[in-house]
Amino acid sequence: MKKILLPNGLKVSEVALGAMNFGTSTSKEEAYRVLDAYMDMGGNLIDTSNNYAHWAGTGDESETMLGEWLSDRGCRDRVILATKVGFDRHGEGAGLKKKQIEYWVDESLRKMRTDYIDLYFAHTDDPSTPLEETMEAFHSLVTKGKVRTLGASNYDTWRMAEANATALSRGLTPYTVMQQRLSYLYPRSNVAPKYVFNEIANRERLRFLRDKNMPLMSYASLCKGAYENPDLLPEEYEGGKRLEFIRAMAADKGVNPSALVIAWLTNIHRLEGYPRVIPLFSCTPEQLIQNARGLETELSDEELALMDSI
Ligand SMILES: NC(=O)c1ccc[n+]([C@@H]2O[C@H](COP(=O)([O-])OP(=O)(O)OC[C@H]3O[C@@H](n4cnc5c(N)ncnc54)[C@H](OP(=O)(O)O)[C@@H]3O)[C@@H](O)[C@H]2O)c1
Repeated sequence: MKKILLPNGLKVSEVALGAMNFGTSTSKEEAYRVLDAYMDMGGNLIDTSNNYAHWAGTGDESETMLGEWLSDRGCRDRVILATKVGFDRHGEGAGLKKKQIEYWVDESLRKMRTDYIDLYFAHTDDPSTPLEETMEAFHSLVTKGKVRTLGASNYDTWRMAEANATALSRGLTPYTVMQQRLSYLYPRSNVAPKYVFNEIANRERLRFLRDKNMPLMSYASLCKGAYENPDLLPEEYEGGKRLEFIRAMAADKGVNPSALVIAWLTNIHRLEGYPRVIPLFSCTPEQLIQNARGLETELSDEELALMDSI
């Protein structure tokens, strides 16, 4: 797996591993197997949150299990650790107020048995807190060395631009990575996203990121396995022609459709109007091997343009 130097100075692998279900639906044994396999392949970017997976447990499970693994393997210095703050966990308070950010960063550090986070995300916007307060609180974590870089997830594009304008005008650290839903399939125009916050990145958002030279970590990159089994397609995605096309093209190339989606996402910055995308997905070790074949799948300019045109 190749490494990419991001504009914010982080050197990350081409794909990121999602740890959302570790300790809840993914057992410790399975989590260790996929983490070890990912690292063996040259992966280094691992994504979690202070609230994963609170809908299936307490919300502490994922960070706690990652902390155990980092300590058991002694590999903290080889990992780029991304975690988040801002969403609710059992009514314990969603938001990006100074007090909340200061409390949760220390909780994340404690659970993950580390003294720094490489990439700290605002998990979602908090319109009830002034942007100045949020950006100042994040900046102070950077100056204290608790956090190296900042990202934003599930923000409207204009709000991210405002947050960064606020930060830069005050000499504070801006957001340098966005995390948003993106795959190959289009959203279904007549179905609202399940949650308003997690809409699929549209062309306007992608052009904004391209213009700002800001990478996108795409979550739900593999549409919950629907490229392999279309019956699993979440209702907010349009399957249709695009799904048929990518499945047929993958068969021609002799790879799984999910691998071709990874090839698409890791190459779309070659097309006008798209940013650098780092696909983020959860998987088993066996699925990881299949998906990583996308990193060896070559796409010509003509193939990329054709995929884009469907
Ligand atoms: N920022 C945010 O708001 C946000 C929101 C959601 C998630 N995330 C992050 O994004 C990560 C990924 O999210 P996600 O798990 O929803 O992503 P996803 O890419 O849509 O789905 C991953 C699922 O797809 C299936 N899959 C993967 N590879 C496959 C293969 N080769 N063949 C068949 N099925 C395959 C697996 O499902 P099965 O286990 O059923 O086989 C896997 O659990 C999370 O872990 C989390 O870190 C962030």
